Amino acid sequence: MSSKQHSILITGGAGFIGSHLVRLMVNKYPDYHIVNLDALTYAGNLENLKDIENAPNYTFVKADITDAEAMQELFALHQFDGVIHLAAESHVDRSISNPMSFIETNIVGTVVLLNAAKHHWGDFSGKRFYQVSTDEVYGSLGKTGLFTETTPYDPRSPYSASKASADHLVRAYYHTYGMPVVLSNCSNNYGPYQFPEKLLPLMINNIRHGKTLPVYGDGQYTRDWLWVVDHAEAIDLVYHKGGNGETYNIGGNNEWKNIDLVHQLCDVMDDLLGQSQGTSRALITFVKDRPGHDRRYAIDATKIKQELGWAPKVKAEEGLRQTAQWYLDNTSWLERVTSGEYKAYYEKQYQ
Ligand code: NAD
Ligand code: DAU
Repeated sequence: MSSKQHSILITGGAGFIGSHLVRLMVNKYPDYHIVNLDALTYAGNLENLKDIENAPNYTFVKADITDAEAMQELFALHQFDGVIHLAAESHVDRSISNPMSFIETNIVGTVVLLNAAKHHWGDFSGKRFYQVSTDEVYGSLGKTGLFTETTPYDPRSPYSASKASADHLVRAYYHTYGMPVVLSNCSNNYGPYQFPEKLLPLMINNIRHGKTLPVYGDGQYTRDWLWVVDHAEAIDLVYHKGGNGETYNIGGNNEWKNIDLVHQLCDVMDDLLGQSQGTSRALITFVKDRPGHDRRYAIDATKIKQELGWAPKVKAEEGLRQTAQWYLDNTSWLERVTSGEYKAYYEKQYQ
């Protein structure tokens, strides 16, 4: 793939993972034109990209991926060579209280983008549509076992069902129309700029305010945690080197039971805040479980390691400490995103 004036549309680039990916691509590929398209929902925040907003190879476009006319115009204007599609409604709890916005953005929005690409990409030569997906499409594991790329889809929340549906549609465009596509399914990301409705930033923010730490159910649910920049680097690799029509699982090989992770975070926070150990743990409260809560996710990332040479770099202890420190150093960011529309939602859910 030539790098000369290569033009990439990244959707959802003002969100958590998207902003790390946009930063990486803008800095690493000065000859590319990176267009970041984002509707700036409650989860999208251009403050995440202040450091690169004036870069000559970067353009931001505020638009909704469900707006077919706007997407057609955008493709006509920029003649994209590739799309890296991250824009989504991403929070499982919100999908339980309001599934429709997940159907609209995650399913309809993906088809709108696929149609725009199909319309503008002629014989598809040199083109690529990259669907960034989640391990949640595989359903829930028992005590043992790992998700591989051939694990059958078994989505169980409105969020994961909407992502699974979008993945199927991307594969359908590959098989039916010959569109060059690639997909990846990743585990739980963590790090700077994650919206504080997700487990780790929510807990960090609550500890700052001396508020209770709501652990769902018995706290024995297990997730595989990956440093967000490791994920952005994997996406870069899959976009450039991944096989046509292929899927790659991406994970941190870093399983934690929620309660163990929260305990670890509490200890790090006590240390960073200069509090006596045990202060933050005392805030833990077991609350009503998430309906349909998947018990365990864990990724087998052998394929991306063997075929593309990717492995996570950041160790859990280091990443957790860096994450906690980042939020403590960026309290104004936290205050801003937890005000307004989001604050009302947050208070209704957890107070
Ligand atoms: P996020 O919620 O932080 O960001 C989503 C972004 O999409 C926001 O900037 C939002 O404004 C934008 N957006 C939402 N609806 C839109 C619309 N209709 N049109 C245009 N933009 C819209 O999400 P994230 O955690 O960064 O996740 C990004 C992608 O990665 C998602 O597709 C998600 O399914 C996937 N993923 C996330 C994780 C994770 O742990 N966070 C893990 C695996 C896969
Ligand atoms: O696995 C990848 C997925 O990880 C992504 O596809 C999703 O977009 C992303 O949101 C994330 O989903 P989870 O549901 O795993 O993340 P969340 O941070 O919401 O929850 C992590 C675990 O912590 C989960 O078992 C639920 C639990 N939890 C969460 C919150 C917000 C709590 O116990 N208390 C909480 O307050």
